[in-house]
Amino acid sequence: MNSISQQTRIVVTGGAGYIGSHVVLALVEAGYDVLTYDNLSTGNRDAILSGELVVGDLADKDLLAKTLAEFSPDAVMHFAASIEVGESVTNPLKYYRNNSVNALNLLEALRVAGIGRMIFSSTAAVYGNPAQLPVTENAPLQPINPYGASKMMTERFLADLAQANADFRYVALRYFNVAGADPETRLGQDYTNPTHLITRALKTALGIFPKLQVFGTDYPTEDGTCIRDYIHVADLAQAHLDALGYLSSGAQSAIFNCGYGHGFSVRDVVAMAKKVTGIDFPVVETGRREGDPAELIAACEKIRKELGWQPRFDDLEVILRTAWEWEKNLERETRDEGRENQDQSQDK
Ligand code: UFG
Repeated sequence: MNSISQQTRIVVTGGAGYIGSHVVLALVEAGYDVLTYDNLSTGNRDAILSGELVVGDLADKDLLAKTLAEFSPDAVMHFAASIEVGESVTNPLKYYRNNSVNALNLLEALRVAGIGRMIFSSTAAVYGNPAQLPVTENAPLQPINPYGASKMMTERFLADLAQANADFRYVALRYFNVAGADPETRLGQDYTNPTHLITRALKTALGIFPKLQVFGTDYPTEDGTCIRDYIHVADLAQAHLDALGYLSSGAQSAIFNCGYGHGFSVRDVVAMAKKVTGIDFPVVETGRREGDPAELIAACEKIRKELGWQPRFDDLEVILRTAWEWEKNLERETRDEGRENQDQSQDK
């Protein structure tokens, strides 16, 4: 911990969510003073292990302005968003409102509050189906689903705002497939209806879901299933701290891919999930899910070189093991709560 970072105040929107909560923890452990702004629509109060929490929506401009004025952060990290590719195809306006319009509200509030630094959670989905892999940051942005388009728009807001105002700088981090859990099992993914492959595979192993569906086996990949670059959430959290240091050093606005530079197919992930859990859970092959690109792999030289990012968990087995420890804990807690409720009703 150093004395400069101890005095640095950060507002984290969406800090009660999966990725946001890991970043809040990393920030607090590094000595930052953190306030989470979250409407708890998908996030959990329990995921805020430290720092302040304001329960609020980005659509509530008055509360947002008041929070920023009172806490007076040096920088804002913006995680709060809707994140499901499939849902974005069926309900696009939800994505444009939650991801683009709310980001605009936040940027307007930052300008009024005189806050000149922002770190934005962008996504590999802005690339669509890239012509070249690994995809570099300057590849054309051609999202193939409203989720990616909604994030691309926010990137554009940021670029134009920074262009027009020398006192505003940002880093946009384009996440590839974030997975895994805090290696000390304090945090992990905790959504009521998770859609991500690794979480669904592990919950199927636990018997919470009857079977895992493999969406599409006719993609132009080696085994016919989609390929993704899975990145451990703790490494991604570190990228945010590195980005903060980068902006604090006076560096210019920039965009970085966050991935390891190699991918695994859905079948690879299923095989690893079976190995890690030791459970041969049921898997069925079904048709493609709309909006899924065949293959996404990050070019990750830029983030390593310019942010000095050094990932520690570049290992699919470690990603699955940390997620598995977390899922087993969640399952145990749910079972204990169920038992307690049963005991209480029997006592009556
Ligand atoms: N999949 C299955 N069965 C499932 C769930 C997923 O076969 O039950 C497949 C998907 O079709 C896809 C792959 O597993 O081929 C990964 O799907 P996820 O839902 O885990 O993740 P996505 O690739 O759709 O999206 C994630 C993030 C986005 C981000 C994207 C970038 O949710 O925010 O990675 O690669 F943009």
